Amino acid sequence: MTCSDEAPMTSGYARYLAAKTTVDDRALNRHVLTEFRRLMPAGAVQVLEVGAGLGTMAARLIDWGAVGAGQYTLLDADRQLLDCARRWLHDWAATRGLRSDLLPDGLQVGDLRVRLVHAELGSYLAAAHGARADVLIANAVLDLVDVPAVLPGLLRLLVPGGGYWFTINYDGESTFVPAHPLDDQVMQAYHRDMDERSRHGRPAGESRTGRRLFHQLRAAGAPALAAGSSDWVVHPAPDGNYPADEAYFLRSILNTIRDALRNRHDRVAPADVAGWLAVRGRQLAAGELVYVAHQLDFAGRSPG
Ligand SMILES: C[S@@+](CC[C@H](N)C(=O)[O-])C[C@H]1O[C@@H](n2cnc3c(N)ncnc32)[C@H](O)[C@@H]1O
Repeated sequence: MTCSDEAPMTSGYARYLAAKTTVDDRALNRHVLTEFRRLMPAGAVQVLEVGAGLGTMAARLIDWGAVGAGQYTLLDADRQLLDCARRWLHDWAATRGLRSDLLPDGLQVGDLRVRLVHAELGSYLAAAHGARADVLIANAVLDLVDVPAVLPGLLRLLVPGGGYWFTINYDGESTFVPAHPLDDQVMQAYHRDMDERSRHGRPAGESRTGRRLFHQLRAAGAPALAAGSSDWVVHPAPDGNYPADEAYFLRSILNTIRDALRNRHDRVAPADVAGWLAVRGRQLAAGELVYVAHQLDFAGRSPG
């Protein structure tokens, strides 16, 4: 995917997020989605999505008939990715036959105004904000931030009793099939990296975000009204091909593990990591690799 010639790194990440779309489509928990839709006001709605990336969730919710009119704000710390989002959503709307017009700070898609906000979440929460959202969404994001630090502020971005939908929260279990003798060692090191990493000068998530959200939401006065698993399950079709762009998605997951372990030689020897990645790469190319990541979805209301 080319978003702009100046942003080749970002456009690789944008392709990963686009490739993730079909994986998320299958994974999102429908019981939790039903509860979230029940929490949404009818008619024009003010939606805020944090860590929105390419805007694929906005497209999905339009496709699923959950959002059609009002304002949908995409907030992300990555400006180049937001530039990609503007173009990606415009192209996506064209494929759906939806009228769409590019605007200086976003775009109009049918009756929905999509606004792009470039901000790091912690800094955004620290600043004062006017209008609050009816609905707050975070998809594949809360496992990248310091939840206890940001959750109370996040919920204050909602009108009292407003609905939240926090989805695809990683929960400490990844499985690759066929099994490999180094799987446990590699995954333990990968999870430790998640638990210790920092981004934007702040702690950046943890490997068991999903299960911890139950009590964190309760402590913030917003216990989950619905929760359920949203595991990623990626496998080849009977002909050995992966659906859509999911081979690229899997390659990106392997690259993420490679990058996380690059400077963690105390945990897994570089030769062992390289050997494990080589085997997984060959299995991917041969259409033999299966990947399952355990995740949890939550829906509920902000404190009234
Ligand atoms: C795994 S991606 C998910 C993107 C999108 N929600 C999706 O599911 O396709 C995580 C996104 O969160 C953004 N992000 C991570 N930490 C952030 C922070 N502290 N503030 C704002 N955005 C952040 C990243 O730039 C990235 O776009």
